[in-house]
Amino acid sequence: MGCETIRAGIVGVGTYAPERVLTNADIQQIVDTSDEWIRTRTGILERRLASADEATSDLALTASRRALDDAGVRPEELDLVIAATNTPDMLFPATACLLQDRLGAANAGAFDLLAGCTGFIYGVAVGAQFIAAGTARTVLVAGAETLSRILNWRDRNTCVLFGDAAGSVVLRRVPGDRGILATALGSDGSGGHLLQLPAGGSRQPATAETVERNLHCLTMNGREVFKFAVRAMEDGANEVLRRAGMTGADVDFLIPHQANIRIIEHAAKKMKLPMERVAVNVDRYGNTSTASIPLALEESLHSGKIKDGDNVVMVGFGAGLTWAGLLIKWYDYKKR
Ligand code: ACO
Repeated sequence: MGCETIRAGIVGVGTYAPERVLTNADIQQIVDTSDEWIRTRTGILERRLASADEATSDLALTASRRALDDAGVRPEELDLVIAATNTPDMLFPATACLLQDRLGAANAGAFDLLAGCTGFIYGVAVGAQFIAAGTARTVLVAGAETLSRILNWRDRNTCVLFGDAAGSVVLRRVPGDRGILATALGSDGSGGHLLQLPAGGSRQPATAETVERNLHCLTMNGREVFKFAVRAMEDGANEVLRRAGMTGADVDFLIPHQANIRIIEHAAKKMKLPMERVAVNVDRYGNTSTASIPLALEESLHSGKIKDGDNVVMVGFGAGLTWAGLLIKWYDYKKR
């Protein structure tokens, strides 16, 4: 007797970006930088900033309600809520639990997932396993960040790069040959020090001195992370294709993590994909970490760039250091 493969796919997407726009010209008023430097080195023109009363779970809540609407799924139908974030509302309770409660997802388990900017792909990979194993029918994965809260607004090396936003997807079993075909997750903790939030954990609890020394802000060795990112994007995409028995020639659309246009263009070139088949929003949102891929996915769907049956690769890298690739044969849930 044949064993039927249960494959998870994305059946709803929702996003939210705060209203306030911070342009490069605005940043020039804060640190010694220029629109020209930011534009040419990163491709970023502007980013969004959460308002003073918005925390990560607020952004995630709006994005997740939109994703549930898009999927036609009621909150009570959720079995699991995963929040991928580097900027939780607080260390605990998990932001996923706050989100689960506010959504009214009374029947769901909930946990946060911390894997740097790669967290969204990690979250989808984990959620898909629950569905494939038959332990969950409906999973919500949110990627949400208020990175502006952990930036050192006196450090031009970092504060120009990031933005606030959220994006959520609903996962369910999808029919036929559609759905998530392969995932590949990677980690190299030896590079952890290259991108970190040094204090506030058990190693360096908060003191007046840690605050004074800005140790509750993100620190990054941009040059080293850049080198890692270029390699990780290529390896992540190749590995996921290898696992599915495919090559770059089989890829219809690429959704890379949005950190820097130069990293994105490099990945596209390596995969021999023209930029029309690559999602880009880093110009308008900066690096929104775990929100960047769902934001780019939603825009690509809206503009009709992804069609039923397309092989879509998502690839990312981030703090950890981590990287991941995910290959999905797109299921057009709107047509069902
Ligand atoms: N404005 C003007 N000058 C600047 C700025 C700025 N905002 N920032 C840095 N510079 C200066 C530096 O001080 C340096 O000057 P120096 O040569 O006199 O020391 C010079 O510009 C060049 O700096 P580089 O680091 O060589 O610049 P590079 O071209 O590498 O670009 C950047 C820097 C944009 C940070 C790039 O390295 C990068 O994108 N790295 C990857 C970062 C990334 O993706 N991080 C997110 C990871 S995901 C996550 O989990 C959060």
